[in-house]
Amino acid sequence: MGEQGEKWILMVTAQTPTNIAVIKYWGKRDESLILPINSSISVTLDPSHLCTTTTVSVSPSFQQDRMWLNGKEISLSGGRFQSCLREIRSRACDVEDEKKGIKIAKKDWENLHVHIASYNNFPTAAGLASSAAGFACLVFSLAKLMNLKEDHGQLSAIARQGSGSACRSLFGGFVKWDMGKESDGSDSKAIPLVDEKHWDELVIVIAVVSSRQKETSSTSGMRDTVVTSPLVQYRAKEVVPKRIIQMEEAISNRDFSTFAHLSCSDSNQFHAVCLDTSPPIFYMNDTSHRIISLVEKWNRSEGTPQVAYTFDAGPNAVMIARNRTVATTLLQKLLYCFPPQADADLDSYVIGDKSLLKEAGVSTMNDVEALVAPPELTTNVPAQRTKGDVSYFICTRPGKGPVLLTDENQALLNTETGLPK
Ligand code: DP6
Repeated sequence: MGEQGEKWILMVTAQTPTNIAVIKYWGKRDESLILPINSSISVTLDPSHLCTTTTVSVSPSFQQDRMWLNGKEISLSGGRFQSCLREIRSRACDVEDEKKGIKIAKKDWENLHVHIASYNNFPTAAGLASSAAGFACLVFSLAKLMNLKEDHGQLSAIARQGSGSACRSLFGGFVKWDMGKESDGSDSKAIPLVDEKHWDELVIVIAVVSSRQKETSSTSGMRDTVVTSPLVQYRAKEVVPKRIIQMEEAISNRDFSTFAHLSCSDSNQFHAVCLDTSPPIFYMNDTSHRIISLVEKWNRSEGTPQVAYTFDAGPNAVMIARNRTVATTLLQKLLYCFPPQADADLDSYVIGDKSLLKEAGVSTMNDVEALVAPPELTTNVPAQRTKGDVSYFICTRPGKGPVLLTDENQALLNTETGLPK
């Protein structure tokens, strides 16, 4: 294998974005292969604000496969990790690094162990699809390390077996996960619709909503839905197939009104299907509902949709504004209704693309105090203003797909020891 005895370590680091579905995946037809009951469509979020970085390494000195997530060792024994590792190892090819004098033959890979370190640039517990970015990054980086010849679409079918939504993080821009027909899952994979430059006026604002409750995991929630909800079959067979076609067209034509209408309706139907589950699943809370009302009232008062909203398996709101001007007004309205705690610092209350805050004319807590109530909210009763319901806001945009990081300084594992830095 190596010409330097047992000392060598080969390493690859990659960065992969997270994604948010605008037509939701909810329900599996095959639990172990992770095959969905309907296709879905997502937008990839800019990795400079939300992403996973993963370093994978291989060395004959490693005794077993090991993984660290955000610095803490985690077990790789779970079926989903094992599926991904098995699928990738079985496709591994010869690797040669002449500079380091390393030669790994295809057949060597089954006896070599890997070390994996992964880091999210956002709080894992915030409920922001960390498993999507995580499994996509694991598969993408291992595929590079082991010199797989598969394209991103084929890799997405492997990432899918880690977590369904992960398959959509193999591409940037807008992405469709085609549910496929085959029972082996080979055609259930992600397809890029348009890249991130196609619709670059869009601005995304995420409200990370405070919640005391531990939410039902997507995996067990959707399993209960498939078993108990009569509505979910209607959704998968009758509603989603039509919406997929309409959504693809709206994205291709940059038709924001149709896009917003479909996104909001589909998010609401997903939560309706959760409520139709026995026992019912509640992912949204009062704060989520207030955000929906704010956007709905504003859209109505404008006559055409300005902002789309969508909620996953938790109370966080993802809002997509039709352009920057709309996004700055949106941020003003949100900061009026959900101001930071008196002792909070504005700099950590609005993160990501901070230029939006500047454009909104808000740079101090006094500026927040001076914001005026959104007129569409004050027709019958004064607008509610509560502190503490939103933990923070993230301003971002549609973003690019996975990339390799070639600078060794960005590696999460030590090049000498293969252990976390
Ligand atoms: C509500 O991909 O987390 O975010 O496949 O069991 O890992 P598993 O579930 P997961 O479910 C995501 C559900 C969703 C909608 C979506 O992303 O399409």
